[in-house]
Amino acid sequence: MNAEKAAPILIRIEGLTKRFGALTAVDRVDFSLARGRLHSIIGPNGAGKTTFFNLISGELPPTAGRIFFQDRDITRLQASQIAHLGIGRSFQRTNIFPNLSVYDNAWAAAYAVRTRHPFHLMKEAPRSGEVADATWAALEEVGLQERAHHPAGELPHGEQRLLEVAITLAAGPTVLLLDEPSSGLSSGELRSMIELLQHLGQRYTILLIEHNMTVVMSISERISVFHFGTIIAEGKPEEVRTNEDVKRAYLGRRA
Ligand SMILES: Nc1ncnc2c1ncn2[C@@H]1O[C@H](COP(=O)(O)OP(=O)(O)OP(=O)(O)O)[C@@H](O)[C@H]1O
Ligand SMILES: [Mg+2]
Repeated sequence: MNAEKAAPILIRIEGLTKRFGALTAVDRVDFSLARGRLHSIIGPNGAGKTTFFNLISGELPPTAGRIFFQDRDITRLQASQIAHLGIGRSFQRTNIFPNLSVYDNAWAAAYAVRTRHPFHLMKEAPRSGEVADATWAALEEVGLQERAHHPAGELPHGEQRLLEVAITLAAGPTVLLLDEPSSGLSSGELRSMIELLQHLGQRYTILLIEHNMTVVMSISERISVFHFGTIIAEGKPEEVRTNEDVKRAYLGRRA
């Protein structure tokens, strides 16, 4: 049997649909994410990629369809419950607390997923214990441990994007949904991000939304192409690169 086909499915999606009034942002999408894979989602602006993530992570309820994680139906669960189960997501727009330190930002994510206590009871993030260990591990994984005590809002943009990833890691996920982690990076920062994604790809199952084609084509094991809320093509990078529907979707946008 083909090894690719044998990989167990972690996330399975059937007929997923999201309508915003008259606009159908995600339109009857069927999709599978296999364990251990770095699977990218590409597509023109407004194709429905972020909405697709918002549905999986529970930020938005779907209009129709089902989402299964490790064969459990998670379609109607809250975002916090889905995070507890092991699906972590980062945001397209950096979603940090600018006045908190780098450490406290990651600590808050590590803490929130490990406790049911109200978050506002936190006075000062402890520097040791299980939550602290998870926090330091996440900061080390992205290379921000030296910045731990800096206010997050004062970091350069590239490091804020790394912190966004660290916040996702701090929650101890099985699957990472990363929404354009490389957006707005300089070429040097982009190289570090590619290295980080490759490194994370060895340890996590990753679903990555990415606009930079050099990044996508070099690191993805599989690519799904969104266009007007549907998946118009899916396959290995070389298959997607040469697909005529994909070329038309991108050319149509420029015309
Ligand atoms: N909360 C919302 N309310 C109404 N319309 C929305 C909402 N979120 C997204 N949309 C619309 O749904 C469509 C898909 O948006 P989405 O953000 O998912 O696209 P995207 O593929 O992530 O685009 P980009 O590459 O620009 O990030 C767009 O037309 C957008 O305006
Ligand atoms: Mg988006």
